[in-house]
Amino acid sequence: MSVSDRHKETITLQSHILGSEARQENATGTLSWILSALSISAKMIAASVRRARLDDVLGEVGNENVQGEAQQKLDVIANDILLRILAAREGVAIVASEENEEPVIIGEEDDDQKYCILFDPLDGSSNLDVCGGVGTIFSIMRNRSGLSAKDSLLQPGFEQVAAGYILYGSSTIFTLTVGDGVDMFVLDPAIGAFMRVETNLKIPQSNKSYSLNEGNRLSFPEGYKNYLHWAQSNGYSARYAGAMVADVHRILLKGGVFMYPPTVKAPVGKLRLMYEANPMAMLVEQAGGKAMCDSQMPIQKVQPTDIHQRVPVIMGSTAEVDKVLKFLQ
Ligand code: AHG
Ligand code: MN
Ligand code: MN
Repeated sequence: MSVSDRHKETITLQSHILGSEARQENATGTLSWILSALSISAKMIAASVRRARLDDVLGEVGNENVQGEAQQKLDVIANDILLRILAAREGVAIVASEENEEPVIIGEEDDDQKYCILFDPLDGSSNLDVCGGVGTIFSIMRNRSGLSAKDSLLQPGFEQVAAGYILYGSSTIFTLTVGDGVDMFVLDPAIGAFMRVETNLKIPQSNKSYSLNEGNRLSFPEGYKNYLHWAQSNGYSARYAGAMVADVHRILLKGGVFMYPPTVKAPVGKLRLMYEANPMAMLVEQAGGKAMCDSQMPIQKVQPTDIHQRVPVIMGSTAEVDKVLKFLQ
């Protein structure tokens, strides 16, 4: 689609959501209502991120989250915005966040027609101090009634009904899948609406580019070290923003492979399965790429046992992921 065609289209995220709902025979509108809550939250978080250093929103709060990581003020602001807006939507049963040890149950009645939403309110928050890209990641699944909140949430990634991220970068991007491809929207600050810029986005099938924290190289398992040696002998470039949202966004558009391998400090990797790896894996696979946690196991097949558990991550263009997997076998 050419740039002028895109402008002719003028589809906002809201109209896109309504259009998808109209195509689903049994749609009740509940999911649309939740996606619209995420879109409002994204605009509010973007407004806070954009005022960093003007308002007192930078720096640490002085607390640690459940992961033992220092919470930044904006982690807390973004988390509060999402919790407050999602809690007011009827179709939301349970919300779980990186920043809360326990899931939050919304409303009294336990209903299979409702949804569970897991999110990383602000991903890559250490980039905030230097005006680097940060994001929000979300995963939506059906509620399973009759179970505790935790048990209802513990579903593998292939059960996600929708997933996406918002990247607060040089522009604000909303990338969404509801299981029928990937669509991308850019916030037009002049009118306050997310405008569709890509529909049925496909990840380039290869690109000589890898993305990982190479500072940890000495403690990577041997296979990753061998892959890096091979890639560097074959003209690959390294690109690493240090925020999964920014790194995976680049890979969706340009191709390549993003990894967070096991290290001595993080023996099963650093990234969280349910609100980082799974939603990004769904997006990457819906865009025709591949997302694995080792040479055998697709991320979305991992049966979670804890909402905050971690997994190794290898995702991106299918051909590039396969090259890494060959070295891991
Ligand atoms: P968060 O800010 O939500 O804790 O996530 C940070 C994650 C992820 O965004 C990024 O890919 C990774 O941490 C970077 O870790 P290193 O600094 O160890 O490379
Ligand atoms: Mn994160
Ligand atoms: Mn975070």
